[in-house]
Amino acid sequence: MESNGKLDITVLFVEDEELLRAIYERILDKFVKRLYVAENGKEGLEFYKKYKPDLIITDIMMPVMDGLEMVEHIRQRDNNVRLVILSAYGEAEYFMDAIKIGVNSFLLKPVETKKLTSLVVELGKGILLEREVKDQEVKRKKAEEDLRKLNEELERRIDERTRDLKKEIKERILAENELKELNLNLEKRVKEELKKRQKQQQLLIQKSKLESMGELSAGIAHEINQPLGGISMGLDNILFKLSNDGFSEEYLRNKINALFKDIDRIRQIINHVRIFSRDQDATLNEIVDLNSTVHDALSLVSMQYYNQNIQLSLNLADEKCYTTGNKYRVEQVVLNLLSNAKYAVDERQKKLFNKSFVKTITISSYNRENLAILEIEDNGIGIAKKNLDNIFDPFFTTKDVEYGTGLGLSISYGIIKEMKGEITVESQVNKFTKVRVTLPAN
Ligand SMILES: Nc1ncnc2c1ncn2[C@@H]1O[C@H](COP(=O)(O)OP(=O)(O)OP(=O)(O)O)[C@@H](O)[C@H]1O
Ligand SMILES: [Mg+2]
Repeated sequence: MESNGKLDITVLFVEDEELLRAIYERILDKFVKRLYVAENGKEGLEFYKKYKPDLIITDIMMPVMDGLEMVEHIRQRDNNVRLVILSAYGEAEYFMDAIKIGVNSFLLKPVETKKLTSLVVELGKGILLEREVKDQEVKRKKAEEDLRKLNEELERRIDERTRDLKKEIKERILAENELKELNLNLEKRVKEELKKRQKQQQLLIQKSKLESMGELSAGIAHEINQPLGGISMGLDNILFKLSNDGFSEEYLRNKINALFKDIDRIRQIINHVRIFSRDQDATLNEIVDLNSTVHDALSLVSMQYYNQNIQLSLNLADEKCYTTGNKYRVEQVVLNLLSNAKYAVDERQKKLFNKSFVKTITISSYNRENLAILEIEDNGIGIAKKNLDNIFDPFFTTKDVEYGTGLGLSISYGIIKEMKGEITVESQVNKFTKVRVTLPAN
C-alpha cells in the first residue's frame, strides 16, 4: 500500500491562513505521495478539476469561496472523493450542512498532528483498498470480455467449420450418388449395347444367309438342271430303244441305276438347301469336319464355277479336320469366302482381256498342333493395303450395290470368333488373296 513510506494517494489541502498552510503542508507531505495546496475554495475547485485528488482536507471560512461551497460543488459531481472539514471551535452550526453534503470527517482546529495523521492514514488505506478492488474489477471485466470474445470467435469458427463440413458432406454424397447413377447407367448401357450387338449379329447372319440364298439360287438351278438333263436324256434313250430295236435287261438296269443316281443328286441338293435355310439358332457345339463342310458348300456352287471356267483346286488334308461349332455356319463362312474369291478372279479377268489367264481358286485344309486350318486362295484382283484394315467392318464394300453389301466378311468374322477361332487375310493387289481360318481342333 505504501511506497517509499508514503501513501500512494493524491491529497488536496485548502487553507487560507498562510501559517497554518505551511504547518499542515509539512506534516502531510511526510506521508502522502502527492500533495496539492490551495489558498481558497475557488482555487481548491480548480485544483480538484486538475489533479483529481482522492482526499480533500479543507478549512471552512475562507475568502473568495468558502470550504463548504467548494465541497458541495465537488460532491455533486464526485461521490467517491473523501472529504475532511477542518473547523474552528464554535463553527458547529456548519456541521449539519456538512453532513448533508456528504463530508466524511471533521477535525477541530487546532488539529493535533497525531489525529490528522491517523485520519489521513485510515482514509488513505480505504482509498487504496477501494482502488485495488476497482482495479481487480476492471481486470476481471477485461478477462471476462476477453473470454467472451474468445468464446465468440470459437463459436464462429466452429460454426464456420460445421458449415464447411456439412457442405463438404453434402457435396460428397451428391458426388457419390452421381457416381452410383453413372455406374448404373453405364452398366445398363453396356448391357443394352451387348444385347443390341448380339441381335445385330443374329440379324446379320440371317441377312447374309438370305443373301447367300439369293446368290445360291442361280447355282442351285444349275446344279439341279444337270441331273434333270441326265434324267430326261436317259428316259429319251429308253423310249427310243423301245420304239426301235428294244433293249436288253442289263441295258435297262444300268439306265435305271443312272437315273436313280441323278434323282439322288437332286434329292441331296434339295436336302442341303432345306437344312441350310433352317433357323440357325441350332447347336453351336457339334463336331464339324472342315473337309466335309467344304464338300457340302461346293455341292451348292461347283457347277457355277465349272461353267465360268474357274479352276477349283482342292488341297484338303487326308485326315479329318475336326473343330467344334455349327456346320451350317462354317459352311456359310466357306460360301462367303468363295463368293469373294469368285468375284475377285472374275474382275481380274475383266481387267486383263487375256484369255491365257486362268481363274484359280484353291481350297486347302490341314491340322497343325491344336488347330484345324482352312485356307481359300484366289489369283484375283487382290486387296489394296489401305482397305485391309476395313474389310471386316460391316457394310464395307468396294463393290457396286448389286454385287456386294459388305456383310460377308463381318459375318464370317463373327462366326469364327464365336468358335474361338481367327480369320486373317493376306493379299497383294492383282496377284492373290489368301484368307486363312484357324479354328481350335477337336
Ligand atoms: N478374295 C478377295 N479378293 C479381293 N477383295 C476381297 C476379297 N475378299 C474380300 N475382299 C474385299 O473386301 C470387301 C468386303 O468383303 P465382304 O465379303 O465383307 O463384302 P462384299 O463381298 O463386298 O459384300 P457381300 O459379301 O456382303 O456380298 C470386298 O468388297 C472386297 O473389296
Ligand atoms: Mg463378300
